[in-house]
Amino acid sequence: MRRQFLAVCLALLWSALVPVAAAPAPDRNLGVADCAGSTCHGSIRPFADRQIRQDEYFTWQRKDAHGSAWKTLFTERARRITGQLGLGAPHEAQACLVCHAHAPPAEARGPRFQLEDGIGCEACHGPAERWIAAHVNELKTPEERVAHGMTATWDAKVRAGMCSGCHLGDAAHPMTHRIMAAGHPPLLFELDTFTALMPPHWDVDADYRQRKPATDTATNWLEGQIAATDAWLARMETGALGHGLFPELALFDCDACHHSMNGNRWRADRTPGLPPGQVPLADQPLVLVQAWAAAVNPAVADTMAVQRERLYQQYETDASRLREQAGELRGWLRREAWGRLRQGSADAGQLRQVLKRVAQNAENAQGGDFYYAQQTAMAAQVLAAAIGERGGSNGALRGPTDALYESVKNRDRFQPEEYRKALGRLSAALR
Ligand code: HEC
Ligand code: HEC
Ligand code: HEC
Ligand code: HEC
Repeated sequence: MRRQFLAVCLALLWSALVPVAAAPAPDRNLGVADCAGSTCHGSIRPFADRQIRQDEYFTWQRKDAHGSAWKTLFTERARRITGQLGLGAPHEAQACLVCHAHAPPAEARGPRFQLEDGIGCEACHGPAERWIAAHVNELKTPEERVAHGMTATWDAKVRAGMCSGCHLGDAAHPMTHRIMAAGHPPLLFELDTFTALMPPHWDVDADYRQRKPATDTATNWLEGQIAATDAWLARMETGALGHGLFPELALFDCDACHHSMNGNRWRADRTPGLPPGQVPLADQPLVLVQAWAAAVNPAVADTMAVQRERLYQQYETDASRLREQAGELRGWLRREAWGRLRQGSADAGQLRQVLKRVAQNAENAQGGDFYYAQQTAMAAQVLAAAIGERGGSNGALRGPTDALYESVKNRDRFQPEEYRKALGRLSAALR
């Protein structure tokens, strides 16, 4: 007892005497007003003779959902969601602000910063304190920009991690089954599609390509799936598995539970190695990225298949072993797989193989899962476009990919038969 007391006193004394190394002050966010001057990014029309458009603010404010993400928190639907969750006003609830606004800690906010801006420029481009003055003329290379605290939004890998943090949820932006059951729309993301939908406030022209490494469609798709796989495994690994009898259902395939009971849905390949009736994991991105691996590095694909099966085996044991296996798979992917998949880039023929496999998986394993169907439809559109970009012929793919996309436009009107028919047409066009 005495000894313990002494130890505590010594520890207190020690902490009082030894100064804690002060953490460096974070870069401050200056606020959208600092970017939106009419001679900066707040022009109403793009400037023809400049490198950048300069109407970025206008696009963001008028056409981009990020510009109104904060206002969404004042809608009836938002109030209903926080009402169900007992959270009070949505625009004051941290659970919502993490994604519907740019909400850095107080010490990282400059005098003109305001939460009301929603997802402002600096949410994506990084806090501007150290780059605002220099970014117009001085910062010439991507490396110089990053060194001054700009986020490398031009890099598909960085962009994928940044967008999917909010669009699929991660540790800093938690999205749970509770929030969705309270009325939040289910989250869905594919990097290339969503970049086009923003819509872009930049032009990737010859001048842009000189200044920055431009990304292409196929790379966007791959990086999006990698980021999604990594974030999903990270959540599983760190034990965000839920409470009581039920695990965190957002880690599982929504449509495993939320579907009609017109039998004959179950497919053996969906939960490898397990008997009918298990709830499949939300492993779509892993399955998609495995399709890429099968075309560019079959050895990596084989190991991924074995590891995925192991995940399902552990799933039958207990939560801690499932977590361990998620950690092992994530570690292996980071050490061994991602690097190899990023090497070189798939040519048109390989992209055709990827698409073929995506269509095959969808036909064999996923039956009529809506979420999976959406992912498949986006993958088909993006990969077909990428085949064209790499000089392959994709004319015959347009009809089937459009039909596929059409079939998943509306969850409540989703007809699995229409979807399967479109899949069949796609497979035939790929033969
Ligand atoms: C800080 C979190 C955050 C980041 C980072 C983020 N988004 Fe969003 N995004 C949102 C939120 C929240 C919405 C919904 C806004 C609303 O409707 O209120 C949204 C909406 C969108 C929409 C419109 C979706 C629709 O159905 O209309 C697109 C497209 C989009 N984001 C693409 C992207 C892309 C591409 C990136 C990365 C370059 C990105 N987002 C980064 C939070 C984020
Ligand atoms: C993990 C990030 C994240 C969190 C946390 C989050 N949202 Fe969202 N929210 C989004 C994204 C992304 C969208 C756009 C979805 C899409 O269209 O793809 C969205 C859409 C919405 C919409 C529908 C907007 C529309 O135009 O239909 C409402 C309402 C909403 N969120 C309210 C809330 C509320 C209230 C909270 C807090 C309980 C919250 N959100 C927490 C990311 C998030
Ligand atoms: C949701 C994320 C997001 C938000 C919010 C956002 N941007 Fe961007 N911005 C991007 C991405 C992605 C790119 C394309 C990659 C790149 O060039 O950095 C880009 C590119 C740019 C470019 C580069 C154009 C070029 O030709 O080099 C400018 C300038 C820009 N944004 C300004 C703004 C301004 C000003 C705002 C706020 C009014 C803003 N952005 C808000 C994601 C975002
Ligand atoms: C293991 C089964 C299971 C999984 C997986 C699951 N849910 Fe649920 N969900 C339930 C149950 C049980 C309820 C509560 C009962 C009810 O309200 O129908 C529910 C309720 C809901 C509700 C509110 C009730 C309704 O039907 O409108 C929504 C919305 C919802 N879930 C969305 C999702 C989304 C999105 C996912 C995937 C991210 C998902 N669920 C994954 C079992 C599941």
